[in-house]
Amino acid sequence: MSCVIVKPDGVGKSVVGKIIDRLEGEGFRLLAARMIRPTVEQFSDFYAEHRGKPFYDGLLKFMTSGPLVVTAWDGENVIPRVRALIGSTNPKEAMLGTFRAQWGTDNRRNLVHASDSAVSGRRETAFFFTADELASYDPSRWSRPEFAPPVLV
Ligand code: CMP
Repeated sequence: MSCVIVKPDGVGKSVVGKIIDRLEGEGFRLLAARMIRPTVEQFSDFYAEHRGKPFYDGLLKFMTSGPLVVTAWDGENVIPRVRALIGSTNPKEAMLGTFRAQWGTDNRRNLVHASDSAVSGRRETAFFFTADELASYDPSRWSRPEFAPPVLV
């Protein structure tokens, strides 16, 4: 399970749909999604591992400066594959075609967050969603021929 957050710059640049579209297109399953505007107090534990680092206060200030779209995803090798799609922390060093290379600005305004391990994925998802808010469905059910869109003539 991976927790993916579209940061205030991603929401402001109107690329939420593009990010979700790409993740769905890669075959990941969306488990939950919500738009929030947390306070510093509500959000400070999310990045607990970075507390005390020189960039921590700026990171918290940025993450609470505008709306976030928080999502949770499932799928084969979801952690490393989503991290690869997102690219390096610094957008200037991120591989061409990654979200951060395409739309990020710098280390702080880097568009999107994704969990870096299975343990973080579970912890971060639980930070925003209760267990019963995580959807359970089978996408392959809807790819059966009887659910194909009508052919317009
Ligand atoms: P994220 O993947 O959300 O996880 C932690 C965040 O800390 C990271 O993205 C960056 O936005 C931020 N970060 C890490 N290193 C730096 C840095 N040197 N300067 C500013 N922000 C940083």
